[in-house]
Amino acid sequence: MTIQHQVSLAPYTTFHLEAVANELIDVKTFAELLEVRRHSVDNAIDCLFLGGGSNVLVTAPVKQRVVVNNLKDIEIVHETEDHIDIAFASGENWHECVMWCVDRGYGGIENLALIPGTIGAAPMQNIGAYGADISQVLLFVDTLEWATGEARRFSAEACALGYRDSYFKHEGKNKFFITRVALRLSKKPKYCIDYGDVQQVLREQFNNEINLHTIAQSIMHIRQSKLPDPNVLGNAGSFFKNPVVDIAFFTALQKTHPNIPHYTVGDGIKIPAAWLIEHSGPEEGVSWKGYRRGTCGVHTKQALVLVNYGGAEGKALLQLSNDIIASVKKVYGIELEREVNIW
Ligand code: EPU
Repeated sequence: MTIQHQVSLAPYTTFHLEAVANELIDVKTFAELLEVRRHSVDNAIDCLFLGGGSNVLVTAPVKQRVVVNNLKDIEIVHETEDHIDIAFASGENWHECVMWCVDRGYGGIENLALIPGTIGAAPMQNIGAYGADISQVLLFVDTLEWATGEARRFSAEACALGYRDSYFKHEGKNKFFITRVALRLSKKPKYCIDYGDVQQVLREQFNNEINLHTIAQSIMHIRQSKLPDPNVLGNAGSFFKNPVVDIAFFTALQKTHPNIPHYTVGDGIKIPAAWLIEHSGPEEGVSWKGYRRGTCGVHTKQALVLVNYGGAEGKALLQLSNDIIASVKKVYGIELEREVNIW
């Protein structure tokens, strides 16, 4: 376990903002995690947990202890002719695990290639992309319950995964440290290539050869062409969630905005937040897409992504996000919700 004091969080978060943490603890084993817990006051969670830092916006110096999850391990728990159950330690890098599975012919997460962050964060917000999300393959989540110091296992059902949502964002918030995530992957994968973009890349670059490798490579190609590389331009992926509205609200909205893109989900209508942001702006005739305010802004190729052009302050990014929320609300009557956690 390494402990550092007065340390910049810039290298630890994908926004690369210069916020200072009082104390930063790097945890590599379960025993070290228990040691960190032992020093908690009244066994309450008095620290902030950091995985890959890909979903956090730090807006002020951090007084609490920051615990960086570096738990590493991959274990095959069970295997049949059809599937394989693999438990990943929560500090493993998500994309590396995806490629580990793709290389061995285990299917189910290839569409989630190149999503930044750790395995531990994946069930927390039910990461998803290109028609797949982790709820389709999640088997169980192992945790350390902070209040009791006991290991607790959550079945996939108990994790209550929804769209960028889970038990750990509600009743389970700040109560558990996710230590392992187990996935059931298929040895006879069914490919999910419904997205037009994916089909196009498979056709143009892989002559329609469809396997786990070509799908993962296609997804990586699409993400690299649309989403900024956090190591080049600080960002946290989608900053907002796509809102879901009820049908009556949508029907009324469509009368004034007939071109609004939408998808039916359950008994609601999902509207791409990127479209709402692109089709509103800081002033009449100016779009948020590509808008720059000092050292921060909205990405030129994907309006859902806020970026740090270098030296931005968390507070400025937060303000920009508030202004976007207000203007979308004014034009469309829809209140965007942040996907990113604010510290
Ligand atoms: N669109 C715009 N302007 C833009 C970008 C998109 O109007 O600048 C509209 C278009 O109508 C487009 C639609 O939004 O057809 C959907 O765009 P896209 O396929 O890029 O997906 P998204 O809804 O913006 C979601 C996820 C991404 C994920 C992609 C691909 C959320 C909040 N975001 O974005 O996830 O990669 O789908 O499946 O659900 C993330 O969570 O960090 C993330 C990147």
